[in-house]
Amino acid sequence: YQVHISLVGSDKMRVTWITDDDAPSVVEYGTSSGQYPFSATGSASSYSYVLYRSGHIHDVVIGPLNPDTVYYYRCSSNPSREFSFKTPPANLPIELVIVGDLGQTGWTNTTLQHVAGAAYDVLLLPGDLSYADLYQPLWDSFGRLVEPLASARPWMVTEGNHEIEKIPLLEPRSFKAYNARWPMPFAPSSSDSNLYYSFDLAQGSAHVLMLGSYADFAPASPQYQWLQADLARIDRARTPWVLALVHAPWYNSNEAHKGEGEAMRSALEPLLYAARVDAVFAGHVHAYERFARVYNNTADPCGAVHVTIGDGGNREGLASDFAEPAPGISEFREASFGHGRLQVVNATHALWTWHRNDDDEPVVADQAWLTSLASNPACSGKTHS
Ligand SMILES: [Fe+2]
Repeated sequence: YQVHISLVGSDKMRVTWITDDDAPSVVEYGTSSGQYPFSATGSASSYSYVLYRSGHIHDVVIGPLNPDTVYYYRCSSNPSREFSFKTPPANLPIELVIVGDLGQTGWTNTTLQHVAGAAYDVLLLPGDLSYADLYQPLWDSFGRLVEPLASARPWMVTEGNHEIEKIPLLEPRSFKAYNARWPMPFAPSSSDSNLYYSFDLAQGSAHVLMLGSYADFAPASPQYQWLQADLARIDRARTPWVLALVHAPWYNSNEAHKGEGEAMRSALEPLLYAARVDAVFAGHVHAYERFARVYNNTADPCGAVHVTIGDGGNREGLASDFAEPAPGISEFREASFGHGRLQVVNATHALWTWHRNDDDEPVVADQAWLTSLASNPACSGKTHS
């Protein structure tokens, strides 16, 4: 079934699921278990990949929904499986789980168990989901693995290198499975691609940029133009927090994937800096690392905090080889599996915590309070000279 949900605008939810047969693309829902006074109809699609043919991938947007409310729902009118989710709150505080490079290993299971213990509202995934790596049935097993969590809270994802799955001549179109299975709300943010988009949380208290490390980001590119226009629309008086996700980290002192995010950093960091983006979360490197506020490789009180959280549990293992000595801007780094949480408490303060899989669920392995740059008079209106 592989049910997962994602936010669409301020009060709608996309429900995505897969059936073997030609079942109806209908979601019935309501606020009491077993009672479904509302229903919505969407569409279904499928894709083929070499000799594999996917099931019917259903896409239904439901709403308007009330904030901070539990909804019960069923897909394709199947009476034997009821799901439920909670919508995010309309106002702060809001709690986000952030974890990349998830995969589907025993380590992944542990990460998901720890995430399940968090009282969170939305999960953000900075790329590398299934590690299907061309073998399409692994996309289906990944869908089943994450369903208990991804059917209960919105999962907002952006792409990693493991989503590309291009085979010269045979499968020339990149991101075929990813785009078919994990449709994200790019159109509402005026993006023309599922590979980059943005959305608001808590009525615009936080704006989240889901950037595409594997889409063109040069100044003439559609992604660059979209990002520029998207950032220009943000009113920081209304939106105290701006967060960004990318796959390949722009700051990284691990030997793994060293320098891979550098081209994107040099292209897009000036835009993010001018917009006073508060934090950038990345995956790709299978370890945890938190940087100070930085801009142009230098500590800068008006730059973003950069965090690598690519430690979800992928099959390639941990990236244990850090460059020595640690650069001065690297504040905490460790090669352990885990996940992160960002509690956006109010317009000025947010608490970032890192939770190691090796620890009991309540243990915090690293934490940092963030103060929104919009609330810092020294940073408002300043552009880098
Ligand atoms: Fe990656």
